[in-house]
Parts: sequence; C-alpha cells; structure tokens
Amino acid sequence: MLRLARWFLGFLALVVALAGAGVAYLFLAYPDVPPAEDVSIVVTPEKLARGAYLANYVSGCVECHGTRDWSKYAAPLIPGTEGRGGDFFGEAGTPVQLWAPNITPTALGDWTDGEIIRAVTAGVARDGRALFPIMPYLNYGQMAREDIEAIVAYIRTLPPIEFTAPARQLGFPLPLVVRTIPQPAAHRPVPPKSDKVAYGEYMTNAAACADCHTPQDSGQPQPGMAFAGGFEFPLKNGKRIRTANITPDADTGIGTWTEQQFVDKFKAFDGAPHRAMSDAEQGENTYMPWYVYAEMEAEDLAAIYAYLRTVPPVVNRVTIRP
Ligand code: HEC
Ligand code: HEC
Repeated sequence: MLRLARWFLGFLALVVALAGAGVAYLFLAYPDVPPAEDVSIVVTPEKLARGAYLANYVSGCVECHGTRDWSKYAAPLIPGTEGRGGDFFGEAGTPVQLWAPNITPTALGDWTDGEIIRAVTAGVARDGRALFPIMPYLNYGQMAREDIEAIVAYIRTLPPIEFTAPARQLGFPLPLVVRTIPQPAAHRPVPPKSDKVAYGEYMTNAAACADCHTPQDSGQPQPGMAFAGGFEFPLKNGKRIRTANITPDADTGIGTWTEQQFVDKFKAFDGAPHRAMSDAEQGENTYMPWYVYAEMEAEDLAAIYAYLRTVPPVVNRVTIRP
C-alpha cells in the first residue's frame, strides 16, 4: 500500500514537473518569430495611395479596427472611428473575449515601423505578446513586402483618436496555445494582373476570404472544405449566421454565377445607403463586410472571381440563417 502510494506520489511529481517544463517551454520557445527589424519605410504618394486602398477596401484594417454600427445591415464603420478600435470579437460567456485595439497614431506613435510590420505580418506585438489570429496575420505575412509597407505608411496617417479598447481576456489554455501561432512572414511578389488567376489568389489572400468562408475545427481549416462555407457567427439577439459556399459547385456554391453577377453583387453596396435594422430584424443581418469590399476595383473583384473558379467545387448545402 505504502509502496503504491509512494509510486503514485513519484508519478504525480513527474507529471507536475513535465507539465511545468511544458509550460516553461511554451513560454521560452514561443512565439517563435525573430525580433522586429530595424527599418524605416520610405513614404511616397504612390505608397500612401496603395496603402489606403488595401487598408480600407481589401484587407479591412480600418473597419476591423474601427467601431461598426451593428444596428445597420452589414455593420458599416461609424465615421470618425477609423482605426480607433473597440469592436468586439468572440462570444460572451466563452474563453475568447477580444476587442480590436486602437491602431491610430495615438496608440502606435511609439512603435517603430519594424514593430508594426512584425505585428501585422507575424503576429507578435511590440511587447512580445503573441496576437490572437482573429487578425489574419498569417495571410498578411504572405503579402508582398511593398504592400505591407504601403499599409503601415498609410495607417500612420490616420487621424489620431484617444480611445482605449478593453484588454483581451483569453481563458486557459488559450494564452499558451496562442503563443504557438505566430510565424515569420514569408512575403511574395504581387503577381502581374495579366495572370488573372494568380493575381486573384493574391487578392483573395489579402482580403482573407477563406478566414470566414472555410469552416474550421478547433481553429484549423477543415480539410477539403476550402471556401465551402458553413462557418458560424453569433448575431445580436441570439440569432446566428453561417458563411456561404463560394466554391464553383453549381448546385450548392456559386458555380452558376457569371463574373458580372459576382462583381455586381459587391458593387451594389458601393455608396449605397445604410439600412437600419431593428432588434427584431437582426436575424437578417450579416457578417460579410460588404461595404469594405464594395469599393474594391471591379478588376480586382473579377480576378478574385477568376481564382474562385479554380478552387475544387465542394458539395455543401449551407443554411445561411439557421
Ligand atoms: C478581423 C479583424 C481584423 C482585421 C481585418 C485586422 N485586424 Fe489588426 N487586430 C485585430 C485584433 C482583434 C487585434 C488584437 C489581437 C490580440 O490582442 O490578441 C489586432 C491587433 C493588431 C495590431 C497590434 C496592436 C496592439 O496594440 O497590440 C496591429 C498593429 C494591427 N492589428 C494592425 C492591423 C492592420 C495594419 C491590418 C490590415 C492589414 C489589420 N490589423 C487587420 C483585428 C483585426
Ligand atoms: C467576416 C466574415 C467574412 C469575410 C471576411 C468574407 N465573407 Fe463572404 N460572406 C460571409 C457571410 C456570413 C455570408 C453569408 C451572408 C451574406 O450573404 O451576406 C457571405 C456571403 C458571401 C457571398 C454571397 C454568396 C451567396 O450565395 O449569396 C459571396 C459571393 C461572398 N461572401 C464572397 C466573399 C469574398 C470573395 C470574400 C473576400 C473578398 C469574402 N466573402 C469575405 C462572411 C464573410
């Protein structure tokens, strides 16, 4: 009996030591990303224009880091909140409670260009904190270096706004898991527009369409389900919404859409009045950031369409509003 108890205590001590070593390892070895580079971005008018385009209408930095009006259809950005943060991500009562932080010069004024580039493309903040991948930094790490520099140059010109969003609260074991997610950036060049499919793939990555349109299991994309839809989000008043299947499957995806129909679907929101939604109508609201992408150039939307035609069609009938 005593021997068994001693054995058990010895075993327990080993487990505790191993768990301690595991936690210490996670803390020491991760995030596994090199220090921020010592660089300073050379700002040109062309760079600022490119950065404004990408940050507002493609990668959605300004809206996601703004405050959105969820009492209107597709939750447009509230003017005057560009980049100040405050929008809530996660779900009340779950281990993920996250607010977009302020990225106007009020908050990032002390950060070096290298520190902002590392946060956006590798997911490590100035203080070494691993960022939660609600911001699609693994996508941004695959964008061209000059596009990222353009974005960073542009966000430095946003009007400064005094505002502090609440600090994130991640339930155990997420604070440890999140440390393993950041990765060094692997920049690649922007493909020529003449290669419509490759260029479309680049823009689809920069706009992080798959982040919402590919269903996930425990934060990992489900194999064989790229762009097949079904990812679920909570809406207000307990309603939920799922993303659409945007693979070329004719029956359950967008296989029957023409390029013109696809582009028109987005362009219908360009400058369109914002539709107010009462609490009772919230079940009809959407997470699709239509007003962001609506101002993408028609040529870029057409390239995204061309790329989406090439992804494997997946038969997956999604009930968008369950
Ligand atoms: C889907 C929403 C979303 C999009 C799109 C997005 N971000 Fe973020 N971003 C966040 C959230 C949420 C955090 C905080 C993550 C955390 O604290 O773990 C964050 C963190 C950051 C940080 C670190 C700030 C800090 O104080 O730690 C920077 C810088 C940043 N984002 C810039 C950008 C830029 C530039 C873009 C566009 C290329 C962008 N973000 C796109 C949601 C987003
Ligand atoms: C923040 C999540 C999110 C992101 C990012 C996102 N979508 Fe969506 N999308 C949705 C949701 C939710 C729906 C279903 C509701 C709706 O139609 O508004 C949807 C619907 C659509 C539809 C309509 C499909 C149909 O059958 O009517 C198309 C097309 C589409 N998305 C394409 C895209 C493309 C292309 C991108 C990237 C440029 C993208 N989405 C990025 C959430 C997202």
